[in-house]
Amino acid sequence: MAYRKILQVGDPILRQISKPVEKIDDEIISLLDDMKETVTKAEGAGLAAVQIGVLKRVFVISIEDEGYFEFINPKIIKQAGVQKGKEGCLSVEHKVGVVERPNKVVVKAFDREGNGFKFTAYGFTARAICHEYDHLDGILYTDKAVSIEDAQ
Ligand code: NI
Repeated sequence: MAYRKILQVGDPILRQISKPVEKIDDEIISLLDDMKETVTKAEGAGLAAVQIGVLKRVFVISIEDEGYFEFINPKIIKQAGVQKGKEGCLSVEHKVGVVERPNKVVVKAFDREGNGFKFTAYGFTARAICHEYDHLDGILYTDKAVSIEDAQ
């Protein structure tokens, strides 16, 4: 595993559309390991592969006390409700913004063994999934925020 540099806003790679993973091979496994090491060190709630410069539809999300969950080729298949709250991004340092997100999402994805799964998330976790999902399409929360301010 290795810590990978997190790209910062202004880097054009962050605006590109990530491509689906076609085969879960050693390269994808080590990408996932590197992402988990990187997001753990950075103390982030989540990280998308594009943030370390890899244009693959992969992200990891911190789920409360259970550590980081991996999502390969995620698709949000349902969303419901609305919540407004603050979020930040490891690619937009020292800022937080208020963003409106669904309060519930259902996401389908694959794990590193290639097994498909369905995951239902509420509240903060739903917010994190939407945030990371947007990264896969080159969208940053700052595009959607109703206000942005300096963190702390
Ligand atoms: Ni982010």
